[in-house]
Amino acid sequence: MNGIEVRNLSKTYDGRTYALRNVNIMFPERGILSIIGRNGAGKTTLIRILATELMPTSGSASVGGIDVVAKPAAAREIMAIVPQEARTIPWMTARQQVFSYLLYRGFPYSEAKERAVKSLKQLGLQKYTNKLSRLLSGGTKRKVMVATVLASEARVIFLDEPTTGLDPISRRELWQLLNKLKKEYLIVLTTHYLEEAEYLADTIAIMESGRIVAMGSMDELRKRAGQQYSVRVMDERRPKLPKGVRVVRFDGGYQVLTDRERAFAISNALMHEKARFSTNPVSLEDLFYYFAKRSINEDTEEQGDDEW
Ligand SMILES: Nc1ncnc2c1ncn2[C@@H]1O[C@H](COP(=O)(O)OP(=O)(O)OP(=O)(O)O)[C@@H](O)[C@H]1O
Ligand SMILES: [Mg+2]
Repeated sequence: MNGIEVRNLSKTYDGRTYALRNVNIMFPERGILSIIGRNGAGKTTLIRILATELMPTSGSASVGGIDVVAKPAAAREIMAIVPQEARTIPWMTARQQVFSYLLYRGFPYSEAKERAVKSLKQLGLQKYTNKLSRLLSGGTKRKVMVATVLASEARVIFLDEPTTGLDPISRRELWQLLNKLKKEYLIVLTTHYLEEAEYLADTIAIMESGRIVAMGSMDELRKRAGQQYSVRVMDERRPKLPKGVRVVRFDGGYQVLTDRERAFAISNALMHEKARFSTNPVSLEDLFYYFAKRSINEDTEEQGDDEW
């Protein structure tokens, strides 16, 4: 397997509490794998183990066909990481930052120079090329970090929350870039922006308390949850609903999550009642609440009625 293969991976930091529990992942050699989950779910721990920064407590992991525990040096040659707390070096210019990273990775002087300029250009950072990092905004610094890893020859890239702190336009720009890059690279991306994972990821892994509680493409996750469509009813009165649907109350109405057939039947009934409603494919946010909540057993949502 030339992509990512993780088997029964567990990690405890103090011998008692598990940051990862029995994680299993299979992912091909190209595309974006996005890991989502609440604070403390284990995303960074997983990425750091895959990137050879941390040792697992048990289990195995390989990236690009290389065992990251047995052969960390070989694994590092094909990968690059932008850690969650990555900072640029204040007294270096953007170009010096990328350039020195490339020298460190073993590129010859002139190639490193060329690559640094090209990579900054690719991310639209030309005008910051000769600017000291300490003078850049937080978002621009993050982009320089991404330019740094993209300049290397790594074909596996780990990005731990790369768009945190970016403005909406910069974020979209980075999305477009990642969308292009995923055809050639294997990118592992964590994010708290669920629309980002929905837009970019080929596979989404939902983590909760160190476990992967669901994994798959958007369609696979919808199928697994049995919830393809969401019907939002903008009315304080709860409509009559068929059994087996998931009902979430929100301020001013109800959201019904269900399969295709029931969603259409409900929409039809609502249309006859002249109710205000909208029907859409279920979003990752809906699925995230469903899988994460289900696993922590805090499901306080309502069900449909016995008679419909
Ligand atoms: N160096 C460490 N020593 C001890 N415990 C740690 C360490 N790093 C993380 N943990 C714990 O491991 C668990 C998983 O943390 P991790 O950083 O992997 O979560 P995360 O999903 O990346 O969270 P966030 O969304 O906040 O970045 C948490 O309970 C955290 O407190
Ligand atoms: Mg993290």
